[in-house]
Amino acid sequence: MALAGSVIVLLAATLLPLLFFSPAEAGEMGVNYGRVANDLPDSASVVNLLKQNGITMVRIYDADPRVLRSFANTGIKMMVMLPNEQLADAARDRRYALDWVRSNVSAYYPATQIHAVQVGNEVFASRPDLTWSLVPAMANVQRALADLGLADAVKVSTPVAFSAVAVSWPPSDGRFRDDVAEPVMRPMLDFLQRTGSYLTINPYPYFAYAAQWSNAISRDFFLGNPNPGERDPKTGLVYYSLLDAQLDATYFAMDKMGFTSLAAYTGETGSPSSGGPKPALGRLTARNGDPPAASKENAQAYNNNVINRVLSGRTGTPHRPDADMDVYIFALFNENQKGSGPDDIEANFGLFYPNMQKVYEFDFHGAAPPPQPQPPATSSWCLANASVGDSWLQAALEYACGHGADCSAIQPGAPCFEPNTRLAHASYAFNSYYQRNGRACGTCDFNGAAYVVYNEPAGTCDPNTSWCVANEAAGDARLLEALNYACANGADCSAIQPGAACFEPNTMVAHASYAFNSYYQRNRRASGTCDFAGAASVVYQAPKYGNCVLPSKALFEEATAKSEVHAAI
Ligand SMILES: *[C@@H]1O[C@H](CO)[C@@H](O)[C@H](O)[C@H]1NC(C)=O
Ligand SMILES: *[C@@H]1O[C@H](CO)[C@@H](O)[C@H](O)[C@H]1NC(C)=O
Ligand SMILES: *[C@@H]1O[C@H](CO)[C@@H](O)[C@H](O)[C@H]1NC(C)=O
Repeated sequence: MALAGSVIVLLAATLLPLLFFSPAEAGEMGVNYGRVANDLPDSASVVNLLKQNGITMVRIYDADPRVLRSFANTGIKMMVMLPNEQLADAARDRRYALDWVRSNVSAYYPATQIHAVQVGNEVFASRPDLTWSLVPAMANVQRALADLGLADAVKVSTPVAFSAVAVSWPPSDGRFRDDVAEPVMRPMLDFLQRTGSYLTINPYPYFAYAAQWSNAISRDFFLGNPNPGERDPKTGLVYYSLLDAQLDATYFAMDKMGFTSLAAYTGETGSPSSGGPKPALGRLTARNGDPPAASKENAQAYNNNVINRVLSGRTGTPHRPDADMDVYIFALFNENQKGSGPDDIEANFGLFYPNMQKVYEFDFHGAAPPPQPQPPATSSWCLANASVGDSWLQAALEYACGHGADCSAIQPGAPCFEPNTRLAHASYAFNSYYQRNGRACGTCDFNGAAYVVYNEPAGTCDPNTSWCVANEAAGDARLLEALNYACANGADCSAIQPGAACFEPNTMVAHASYAFNSYYQRNRRASGTCDFAGAASVVYQAPKYGNCVLPSKALFEEATAKSEVHAAI
């Protein structure tokens, strides 16, 4: 079937930014280093912890001199905060703001790489009485930075709780709450645009998921796991995570005020690993054995999905596909003085326990590391010759398996048993013998039953690698949704665009297979990454569609893609 136009539009929208922006330009991953606790390690130990775990950016909720000194000359970027308690003074008094910036920012810069000052914290939600001081305080801090020559190096923003967005579904209905939209958001957005800064929003899909009574939000949609997607009926845009929907609701709210290109950064997002629901929340009835909303499983999946996404440069959303965005996970540690006690979810958002043990596994080194030098590729293969006849092949097959070929993979139930033909099994055994003998002259003969080829033959089975292909039986509609999901979530779909190497055959199964396989390889063939709700399955023989052989490695760069997407002869 010929692909619908919408796929091409989506491919163009999601792929071009991937091809032209490096991860560093698309956004950085940081962590919120909150310290509302009495049992945390000292800040020098925290620096080591961050370094060991590849964490390069942190936000703190004050400008504590001990912390700022510990981070000097570490290369770790820092975001400091002027606390709500000082907001009114900073708004009223330019000299106060200047003193604050001089003693809390410029005294440490540049040894401590402070790159932003957050003025206040979730003011609309936590200190509505300070709403009117917010933008004047931001302006005074900005003037102070300019007076001290730091206006380019250090940006001013303020974290906005997601509750400032009045409507979040469908995302295109997103708008700011009436009480803040015109009086505060408009001058703030204007200030952020003029100063080359960004809106800082704190979306927490967890709260919407945990608070629902209806189970309308699926666990996979909350976590950003593969899922069938939710369509915004007004724009036709399909969302595969609640985070994307919340971010787009924010972008649409900004659009409605005329700020169509201002960036929004995520100042906080995360998910608790334990704790009971807050009394004010609804009660999610977990289905089909889903873990409780606040659980290690959910926190781990949510945070790793966010981390992998940002580190691989995929910070765009359906509405703003090329958006750059820094994202800070909340939080570095479980903080025992937050919330109403140790069982409150508020105290359980940490990636680490106070003793610096991980609460669950996560990795800030990225799902898509820079390409590693590959070992020299196999340059020739040994195949069985069908025309010598079955009995000859059988004798040669037994000889090979008895003389050093690894024939375990062609036993019943092993990955290379299928296709169960003598020719395929003999080819497997001859090639194993040939490779194990270093492709030495004479080791691919077997009395004329075998011959050497110099291009990797289609259908070569390798039990140590695998590919992901689309199941035709899933039907075009499901394949299309899953294809869109894969292409929007890290699969390299450039080869299936018109004119590219694997555009032909232009069928849904071939294109979906290409995209599923790329997603699977990029996720290092992790379990669960070749499923797409049953639309895909794993195979052990290089699949071939027309002249397109699916690669057995992730193609992290266009350059490697060109050398690896080879057309089979
Ligand atoms: C620097 O910041 C800290 C923490 O916010 C604050 O207590 C202190 O007063 C600030 N210094 C000045 C001169 O305002
Ligand atoms: C296969 O075997 C036949 C008959 O022995 C021989 O003529 C032919 O050249 C062989 N093919 C290859 C590719 O070696
Ligand atoms: C697969 O991996 C195992 C263990 O690393 C190795 O012994 C075996 O030779 C490999 N098989 C192939 C066909 O590469």
